[in-house]
Amino acid sequence: MGGRPRNDGARQQGFTGRLQYSALIDVHVDRVWSVLKQFGGISQWHPVISESLIEGDQADGLVGCIRRLTLQDGAVLRERLLMVDERDQTFSYCFEEAPLPLDNYIATVRLVRLTDQNKTVVQWTASFDTREPDPKGLQTQGIRELIISGHESLQRYLAATQTFDQSHGSVERTKLRGATMDKHIEPVPLDKAYRLLNHGPTVLVSARNDGTDNVMAAAWACALDYSPPKLTVVLDKIAKTRDLVEKSGTFVIQVPTVAQLDLTYQVGHRSLHHEPDKLVRSGVKLFEIDGYDQPLVAGCSAWLVCRLIPESHNQDTYDLFIGEIVAAWSDTRVFKDGHWCFETADPALRSLHHVAGGHFYAIGQAQDIGRGMPD
Ligand SMILES: Cc1cc2nc3c(=O)[nH]c(=O)nc-3n(C[C@H](O)[C@H](O)[C@H](O)COP(=O)(O)O)c2cc1C
Repeated sequence: MGGRPRNDGARQQGFTGRLQYSALIDVHVDRVWSVLKQFGGISQWHPVISESLIEGDQADGLVGCIRRLTLQDGAVLRERLLMVDERDQTFSYCFEEAPLPLDNYIATVRLVRLTDQNKTVVQWTASFDTREPDPKGLQTQGIRELIISGHESLQRYLAATQTFDQSHGSVERTKLRGATMDKHIEPVPLDKAYRLLNHGPTVLVSARNDGTDNVMAAAWACALDYSPPKLTVVLDKIAKTRDLVEKSGTFVIQVPTVAQLDLTYQVGHRSLHHEPDKLVRSGVKLFEIDGYDQPLVAGCSAWLVCRLIPESHNQDTYDLFIGEIVAAWSDTRVFKDGHWCFETADPALRSLHHVAGGHFYAIGQAQDIGRGMPD
């Protein structure tokens, strides 16, 4: 690292600097890529970036999009994505705005898989012009520290999350536990868990058996009892998910959001019977919560883990399955202290209500009777 004078004559005062950094990560290259290529998601794993978002309506990962990074000290950096090469697992970006005495900053991140190993070399290079001579590299020290701390924490983030390859494509699965638990997800007391379904949303049913995970849509799910809390769901005999529920004796009901409309439709029209990569194609990402060996669908607003109460007559005759809710969580941005708060939450977090075909409603306006009603 350091500065050497430019000789292109374009900026007599400028000095060209170059940084290079490589690090070995004990994780398969595809997994590392799936995290790094989320250009706007860097704050998930970078310790000094407290917030990152893609500006405007631009899609994350589209060449030209700009990510706005707020550092922990409040400084703002804006970076434009210049190039993405999915095959080569490489991307480049430049500074649009940075509180640093640098110009023409371009960085490239490239991933290299160590042959036949689940290990990845992350190669990071950057070139830039410093406004003053910088023989000791002091002006760029901050950037180097940003990169090194970022890599260390990327390694920790990848270790705290897990993926499991399926024979047909790789579904992203994350394990949430303790400190790495999504900051929005909190447990819901079981005496309030029925409220997660009381407003009648279309749900996703997920189940795991013998190494197979699956997710389907279900409009026919209903709260059944308070204590212990129970629910019912109709699982048609054609559904592969039903097999998994019957064999494992457990399932998860989750409430998908407006942002997951397409995903909900896809898992309700594709079947694992015919499409082994159904979950990948439908854009499903799974996570687990410590202590529960269950596939939870990421991005939902509520999750209810259920133990099947076997009732063979109901199951065979009516396709009706009864579950005792043994644990529940909600995204506190939309269900907090035992209540849904759709009126104040991001509209993208509203629940979906199926009518027919591809026609759904998002939950509407709150209407309160108010006085004298029990909580
Ligand atoms: C909005 C919507 C609601 C659905 N509701 C139900 C339901 O309540 N019960 C059911 O058995 N299938 C329901 N389905 C159909 C299943 O989701 C569908 O059969 C799915 O392909 C099963 O997937 P699998 O075979 O991989 O388990 C629904 C589908 C959609 C799109």
